[in-house]
Parts: sequence; structure tokens; C-alpha cells
Amino acid sequence: MVDFTMQFPAGFLWGTATSAHQVEGGNTNNNWSAWEKNAGHVFQGQKSGQACDWWNGRYTEDFDRAVAMHNNAHRLSVEWSRIEPEPGRFDDAALEHYVRVIDALRERNLEPMVTLHHFTNPLWLQDKGGWLNPDAVQHFEGFVRRVVEALGDRVTLWCTINEPMVFVQAGYIMGRFPPGKHSMGAARRVTVHLLKAHAAAYHAIKDIQPGAQVGLAKAMISLKTRTPGLIHKPARNISRHFFNRAFIEGLTTGVLRLAGGKTAIPEARDTLDWLGLNYYYRFQAGLNPLIPHRLFVDVTRPREGLLGPESVGECWPEGLAEHIKWLSRHVGCPLYITENGMPDADDTYRPLHMIRSVHSLWQAINMNASVKGYFYWTLVDNFEWAEGYDPRFRFGLYGCDHETQERSKRQSAALYGEICEANALTGDMARRYVPDHADALFPGVDVLAEVRLPER
Ligand code: FCB
Repeated sequence: MVDFTMQFPAGFLWGTATSAHQVEGGNTNNNWSAWEKNAGHVFQGQKSGQACDWWNGRYTEDFDRAVAMHNNAHRLSVEWSRIEPEPGRFDDAALEHYVRVIDALRERNLEPMVTLHHFTNPLWLQDKGGWLNPDAVQHFEGFVRRVVEALGDRVTLWCTINEPMVFVQAGYIMGRFPPGKHSMGAARRVTVHLLKAHAAAYHAIKDIQPGAQVGLAKAMISLKTRTPGLIHKPARNISRHFFNRAFIEGLTTGVLRLAGGKTAIPEARDTLDWLGLNYYYRFQAGLNPLIPHRLFVDVTRPREGLLGPESVGECWPEGLAEHIKWLSRHVGCPLYITENGMPDADDTYRPLHMIRSVHSLWQAINMNASVKGYFYWTLVDNFEWAEGYDPRFRFGLYGCDHETQERSKRQSAALYGEICEANALTGDMARRYVPDHADALFPGVDVLAEVRLPER
């Protein structure tokens, strides 16, 4: 194996990402807490319950864990239903809580990135029709203004919306998230409203805090076309456009193109100071006449490559560079990796996944992609939405026993700590953390001896 130091740029941000409902515990006023009450919505009927107990202050000890991993940043979200428990009524105590949380990050030299919408909505918004109601845009803007007024002196990096198309797909097409719908028409309307909401939030934040850096977190999936390609490629293209590209096109051109037509949203144009990439899985896409409500597009999990135990799709770390390259060409702003990780309670695959991901990221940066930071999903095992606390969906660098709140350090946390401290991935790390794979991943110069130069 060759020795190496893959150095990252000075000032690169290394952190982990979390979201309010998944870690706080005690949320009772949002659509997820209502959804959790119905059998069949969450793995084994589980509820988020105390989650990681952050609302009671346990975030401080977890932030200490981030410091122990030499992180210099953390991405988290604020819970709308706590801050605005009724339309137009804001709860100062909730805002003060988040002031303390941000201060706890700043005291530890962890740069905060704050997400304003991460999947959950206040119950009152759900009662008004949620994101199907065009008024959701103004409601969201009002909430954003209040948050930025309260936290703007402490926060520079704002993330308006997390994974709009996952929210749309899971909530309005697949029915796995609230409100549990299966309708392309509803999906389309909600997408329009989310793009308008991002634009309204962007302009509101800049208005209050001109120096703010505003972006959003976009999930991208890698897609393989089922064979024969001639039949399945159009379906793959529909899926790729809908899931990966349409929203981004809306942000860069001000026109959203979805099945059913075009919508001009000129205020959305050029509303990115940065773009966040959330990347997890590769899927297989093809045509399936049995699912008209999904435009006949079937996206399934292939059983090959580097798989975590029972992961949703195929974990394919090299997709990171693929998406960074595409985004670098299509959006004119710096990128952050706002989420990347894999579920693996035993930590059997995670160190390899992390090394391959960071390698892929480094390669993209060295091809002149402007990437400013990397946020691993996630710090501590948490409430994984429809998967609840299913042991097959533990994404944490630290484990968490949700009965006792006891944390346990996984070896990936030690690896991540070394990467963050060195601001580099090194051959020595690969040799120690993935001894069985290091040679194959990073072959030595002896491999080059086999390479023949063409005869002149
Ligand atoms: C992303 C979500 C995040 C978490 C990870 C595993 O889609 O943004 O909240 O559930 O997946």
C-alpha cells in the first residue's frame, strides 16, 4: 500500500449533523408526534419519546463528544412547533433555549449551521392543510424572521429547508411520512410551495442579517439503470430529474419543471449562498407498469456493492464525488456536505464507508470543486423517523441506549476524530482502521510497474 496524506483546505469545517425532533425528546406539538401515535407508522409502534434528551440539556455532553472528535462545526435544527406553538404566538422561553444551545456550540468553538425546517411541522400548520396550503409559505417566513431576529447575532450559516424532495417523496408519494399521501398532484403542489418558502426565507434572512450565508440541504441519490437500458432509461431519467435535479433547476433558473407543467418562481432565482449535499445511497431505477401513481418509475435497492446491514439502498461512497462534480457544474456557489453516513450499529462497515467517502470528497476538492465542510450524519444514535429506534438504522458515531441515555463510543468516532484533527485522511489511518481493505483501496507504486507505456 502506498503512504499518503490527503490534506483538506485550511479552515475546512468538520462536524456532525442532527435534527431537533430526532434528538430533543418531549416534542408533543408537531405532526410527527401525532403520526407516531398511529400503529404501523413507525417501526414496532415506537415513539420518539425522550430521543437523546437534548431538550433537558444533554446536548452539552454530546457537544463535548464533538469536541473530543476535534470537530469545529455542528449542524442542528430548531423546532418550529416549540418556537411558534400557535400561529403568530412565539415562545420566548423556547427561543432562549436555542440561544443557550448555540452559545454552548460557540463556547466549544463549534461553528453552528442552523436548519429552519427539518421535516416537522407544527400541528396547527398540519390542521390548515400543511404544505398543500399556499399560506404555508407566509407562515414559514414569519417563523424564520422571528428565529433570525433572536439568533442572528450568533449564527451565520442558515439552512432553510432540509431535503425538500425527500419530504415530498416520503410524505406525498410513498406515504411513509406524514401526511401519508400517495399523490403526484399533491407532491407537485408541495414542491412549488417549498421552493417559494425557501425563496421567501432567503430574502427575509438577508433582509434582517445581510451578512448571513443562506443555503439549503439537498438530498441526491445515485441511480443505476435496470437492464435492458433501452426500456428502463426513460424511467431512470424521470426519477433523476424529479428527485435530484428539478428543485436545483428551480433555484438556478426560477422555473420549476415537474410532470404536469412548468411553474415560474422568479423570486427563487439565485437564492443560494451555498448548497448542502446530503448523500447516502445508490438505487436501481426502471419502468414498472404496476405503479402509475409513481409515474411508473420503480426505484429499488440493489443487492450488491458495499451494503450496510439492511440499509435502504446500496451504500456507495464514491457517489459523493459524482454528485459534487455535477453540482459544481450546475450551481455557482460553494458546497457543504450537510449529511453523509450509513446505518451500522456494530460499526462493521462504517470505518470503510467513512474512509471511502472522505477519499471521494478529497478527490472532488482536488478537481477544484469548492466544498467548505463536511457534516457526518450523525453524532449520537437518534430517532430515525419511520425506522424509529430500529437497531438496523443506527447512524451514530456514538451509540445511545434510549432507555438509559447511556452513550457508547464506536470506533468510527475515533477515526473521525483523527481525520478532523489532522484535517486530512492518511495512509496510516487506513492501515489501522481498515487493515483488510487498505491495499486494495490505495495500491502502492508497484501496481504502476504493471502499467505499460504505449510503444512510440
Ligand atoms: C436524511 C434525513 C435525516 C436522517 C438521515 C438518515 O434523509 O435528513 O434526518 O434521517 O436521512
